Amino acid sequence: MSEQIQTAFVPGLEGVVAVKTRLSNVDGKKGELIVAGFPIEELAPRASFEETLYLLWYDTLPNAEQLAELRESLASRRSLSRATLELLRAAASEKVPPMDALRMAAGTAGLGTNEDVPAEDEARPEALSLVARFSTIVAAYWRLLGGKEPVQPDPEVGHAATYLYMLFGEIPGEEFVRALETYLNTVADHGMNASTFTARVILSTRSDVVSAVVGAVGALKGPLHGGAPGPALDAVFEIGEAGRAKPYLREKLERGERLMGFGHRVYKVRDPRADTLAAASERLYTTDGDKALYELALEVEQASLSLLAEHKPGRNLETNVEFYTALLLHGLRLSTDLFTPTFAVGRVAGWTAHCFEQHDLDRLIRPQSAYVGARDRRWIPLEER
Ligand code: ACO
Repeated sequence: MSEQIQTAFVPGLEGVVAVKTRLSNVDGKKGELIVAGFPIEELAPRASFEETLYLLWYDTLPNAEQLAELRESLASRRSLSRATLELLRAAASEKVPPMDALRMAAGTAGLGTNEDVPAEDEARPEALSLVARFSTIVAAYWRLLGGKEPVQPDPEVGHAATYLYMLFGEIPGEEFVRALETYLNTVADHGMNASTFTARVILSTRSDVVSAVVGAVGALKGPLHGGAPGPALDAVFEIGEAGRAKPYLREKLERGERLMGFGHRVYKVRDPRADTLAAASERLYTTDGDKALYELALEVEQASLSLLAEHKPGRNLETNVEFYTALLLHGLRLSTDLFTPTFAVGRVAGWTAHCFEQHDLDRLIRPQSAYVGARDRRWIPLEER
C-alpha cells in the first residue's frame, strides 16, 4: 500500500489528535479534567486507587464483589520475584536513582506469575503484575537505598496503605491513606501526555504491556514531564518564614527565573488537579501535619500568582499540579526523590488502560517525517576522505 504523504509539519505534534480515547479528557481552556466520565474533583477524593483502576480498565465502577476480586488479584501479585529483588539490591549498591531502578525493575515485573490465560487475555495478568508491583518496587528500592531491608506487602490492606506500609514499616493512619489515594487517583490518567503516548506507540506494534510500560517510565523520567515537583517545594523551604515570600519571588523573577509549580502548556486557567490536591493537602495538614509549613505554602502561592500577573501580564500563569503534589507528598513524609516514582505508581493505571485501548484499536502508530538532509551524494572511498 502506498503511504499517504503528509506535508504539514507540527513540531511536538501539538494539537494533533492521534487517538480516540474514553479514558480521560483535558480541557485546558475550561480547566477541566474528566476521567472515564467523572470530573477529577468528583472522583479523586472519593475513590480508592483500586476503584479508579477498575474504572479505567472496565469503564464502570466495580461492585463490592468485583472490587474485592481486584484487590485480591493485586495482593497476590505484589511480592517481588527473587530476580527483581536481586536487581534492586545491585542497583542500590551503585546508588542508581529511583526512577532508573524502577525502569530496570519494571521489565521484570511479570516474572514468577506464569498463569494459563487465553491468548486474547494475555495482557491482563501482565498489567495486574505491573500495577501491583510498581508500589513494591519503589518502596523496596527506597529502603534498600537507605540501607534497610524491604518490608513485605500486607495483603490485608489496600494498595495505597500497603505502599506507605512498605515504605515506612508502619500501617498508616486513615488521613494518610486518603491523601495518598487522592493523589494516585488525580494523576492516574491525563490525556495524551508523553509517557502515555510512548506506551501506546510501543503497544501499537503488537508488542507487550511490560515493554510499553517500561518505555513509559523512561518518558516520565524526563524533567519536562514528571520531574518538576521537587523544586516547587524548594522555594517554600528557602523562603522559610511568613512575610518573606514576595521579595524572594520578585528577585527570582527579576533574574529571569521561572517560579516552579506555576504555568502549564495546556491549562491556561487553574489546573483542576491543583484544586483537588489543594483540598487534600488542607485536610492532611490540618489533621496531621506541619500547619506552619502549609500556611507558608499558601502565602507563597498567593505571592507567586500576584507577581506572575504583574511580571507576565496576559500569560494566565496559574498554579499547576506540581505545587500541591509537592506539598501533599511532603505531608505524607515522602522524600522529594520519591515524588516522580510515586507519580508512576499512580500513572501505571492509565498506561495499562491505554494499552488495552490500543490493543483493541490495533492500528500501528507510524507518523511521517519531513526529510531536511542532503541529496544526491556520491560515495567517496575511504582512502580519499
Ligand atoms: N514562572 C515565570 N514565568 C513563566 C512561568 C513560570 N513558572 N511559566 C511561564 N512563564 C513565562 C515564560 O517566561 C514566557 O514569558 P515570555 O514570553 O515573556 O518569555 C511565558 O510565560 C510563556 O512561557 P512558555 O515557556 O512559552 O509557556 P509554556 O506553556 O511552554 O510553559 C511550562 C509551560 C514549561 C510548565 C512553564 O509554565 C514552566 O516552566 N513552569 C515552571 C515549571 C513547572 O512548574 N513545571 C511543571 C509543569 S506541570 C506538569 O508538567 C505536569
